[in-house]
Amino acid sequence: MDFELKTLTRARVCTEKCDALVVLVPLDVAEGDDTLSVLVEAATQSGDFERKPGKLLQAYRTSGIAATRVVLVGAGEGGAKNVRTAVNAAMGAIKGGNTQRVVLCLSLLKDAGAAHMQAAVMACGDAAYNYSATKSKVPPAKLQRTVVAVADAAVVKASFEKAVGLVKGVALAKEWGNRPANHATPVMLAGAARELAKLPRIKAEILGPKEVAKLGMGSFMAVARGSEEPLRFIVLRYDGGLKADAPVVLVGKGITFDTGGISIKPASEMDEMKFDMCGAASVLGAFRALGELQPKLNVIGLIPSCENMPDGKAIKPGDVVTSMSGQTIEILNTDAEGRLVLCDALTYAERFKPRAVVDIATLTGACVVALGAVRSGLFSSDDALAQSLLNAGERSLDLCWRMPLDDEYADGLKSNFADVANVAGRAGGAVTAAKFLQRFAGKFPWAHLDIAGTAWKGGAAKGSTGRPVALLVEYLLSQSESSAVVTKAPAKKRIKAVRA
Ligand code: BES
Ligand code: MN
Ligand code: ZN
Repeated sequence: MDFELKTLTRARVCTEKCDALVVLVPLDVAEGDDTLSVLVEAATQSGDFERKPGKLLQAYRTSGIAATRVVLVGAGEGGAKNVRTAVNAAMGAIKGGNTQRVVLCLSLLKDAGAAHMQAAVMACGDAAYNYSATKSKVPPAKLQRTVVAVADAAVVKASFEKAVGLVKGVALAKEWGNRPANHATPVMLAGAARELAKLPRIKAEILGPKEVAKLGMGSFMAVARGSEEPLRFIVLRYDGGLKADAPVVLVGKGITFDTGGISIKPASEMDEMKFDMCGAASVLGAFRALGELQPKLNVIGLIPSCENMPDGKAIKPGDVVTSMSGQTIEILNTDAEGRLVLCDALTYAERFKPRAVVDIATLTGACVVALGAVRSGLFSSDDALAQSLLNAGERSLDLCWRMPLDDEYADGLKSNFADVANVAGRAGGAVTAAKFLQRFAGKFPWAHLDIAGTAWKGGAAKGSTGRPVALLVEYLLSQSESSAVVTKAPAKKRIKAVRA
């Protein structure tokens, strides 16, 4: 999907040729005598159209309007969340038809600012994303182009560009999340990282089994043992800041399939464990957006990636392994593998002397029980970092919720045979997982996002959501010198676009 931003008055919007004109109508609209204003007023008066968020009225070949279809959609009080609801509803309604070119009219919103723009563009991008990688027939992409019409383009240009960059990052995260495990192996994820390194200021370094063994990542290696697929440890760098600037490190859980290992999972819905690399996908997506937006800061992305499989060589409950930190771990449950790959990545992060480390992981079913699909779980030993992430979540409508880290939660991780066990009891499972990780994150400000409930949807709408790319990028931009987009980067090769 291509986006374009245009200054268009209401009268001009009526003359803009397109397949569908989507008009966001808030409760409070200033009157006008142009065709669109008259239409909106008449539709409201007749009772056929309500301005509640997401309410729709569609018209076909309306006189005085150049668009083939007109979709009026209520935007309630305005506000970013209502804008998102409205655009979701409108795009949902036109998606099935033959719409390729959309004009999205935000000109009726009273004070359409940065947050509105971002919400609108991202909802469009969401609707335009289409999974096709493993389908034999690929229908030609619908929804090819959206013109965002506003009263004054200059005011919202920066937020428009930011949102367009974000859409690309989210699409990439969705794409890798959605790909089946046999089409998204650790080696293939490493390939995606290499592809990203074609973008300006991004570099990728890929470590394999030999290098990882040399580093002493005994915990990560233990998980990978049960699979024929070789592990990869992916190191991405985005160098937008000065050499001396301490980087932010993002660590993404990259389990490309989680069977549970010898502590095997039940069969039902096990297919969804292909999504167990959504943390990794969100790091790839964040780098895609960084490559686009070129902010002034340094970011490192670390992805420990492997499968968790049962096998003759697989780790067994009770096995003790030595992590890169030197701490020994008793693996009481091989299905608690995420923390085992992340702990070594956290230790590896120390070498960058980071200003902050944020890990992102589909870590626990317990987090799904606690927070459902609305908010990701946020755990942090650092109040300032936690607040920045909470704020970034609110601004980007990619929400998280802070959870506790009291030391008593770690009591259940005691082991008679190692320094720490990899599981505690059932109670407070999302917190005890975070307490495990915290033992490996003592040397820097650290936060952990448990995205088990938010990274994908099950059921009929099964698919990756691309969360929390928006949250992460919003946070990173807030950490750059100014959240403005910096100067044009040196030209580099174009990279393969994800069909969106
Ligand atoms: N990848 C899963 C977490 C998960 C499960 C996410 C279901 C979303 C839906 C993780 O590796 C896991 O299996 N965690 C275990 C931990 C337990 C053994 C302590 C869990 O949550 O059951
Ligand atoms: Mn597991
Ligand atoms: Zn897992």
